Amino acid sequence: MKVTNQQWDAEYASGRWDFLSARHEQTRLAVVASFIANYAPGCVLDLGGGRGDLLRWCPPASVSRYIDVDVSQVAMADVPEQPFPVEKHVMSLADYRPGATGIDCIVASEVLYFVDDAASHIDAIAREAGGVTGIVISLVAANRKKPNWEKASGRIWSQFDDLGWPLHQSVHVHNHSNDAGWDLRFYLFDRD
Ligand SMILES: C[S@@+](CC[C@H](N)C(=O)[O-])C[C@H]1O[C@@H](n2cnc3c(N)ncnc32)[C@H](O)[C@@H]1O
Repeated sequence: MKVTNQQWDAEYASGRWDFLSARHEQTRLAVVASFIANYAPGCVLDLGGGRGDLLRWCPPASVSRYIDVDVSQVAMADVPEQPFPVEKHVMSLADYRPGATGIDCIVASEVLYFVDDAASHIDAIAREAGGVTGIVISLVAANRKKPNWEKASGRIWSQFDDLGWPLHQSVHVHNHSNDAGWDLRFYLFDRD
């Protein structure tokens, strides 16, 4: 599914994506925050980070800098003030070039359906940044009611499998109230 920046802005402005800030979406983000705090604290690059809901769950001491790369400036206007620097880049993750900016953790949560060759972009960003410790990927899990989503997630996971990255942890979060779930993978790179 490809959606223009203007469409994302219009949809955020209309409230279409407000549910992302609701409580039933927070468990998966809290798990991501826990991984950051325990394994890859420091500069966090949140690809498709939207309103920065992830930051609600990150202990402030675990983040030294937060970089949100998102096509929607309407979404990013709502990223709350933080005690550490926050950068916002209104652009596709496919075009983002980090430079050697000292990123510790890359997060791509519920965004990779919207770009082609998803894993290759994350790989290119991680290589250019250099020294990335953790990479977190979150995609919707298999769901009988949403067969297309399952297909998209499966395709993207196989791209990551081909990269052969060191998988450290994986978590499945399932909301039994609405039968929606997510698979999260945590890749940890030994930088010693
Ligand atoms: C489903 S939301 C996920 C938001 C948040 N990461 C989360 O896990 O709740 C998808 C987000 O990706 C952004 N987005 C869509 N296509 C994108 C792209 N090509 N590059 C960067 N961000 C994109 C949208 O504006 C939106 O904020």
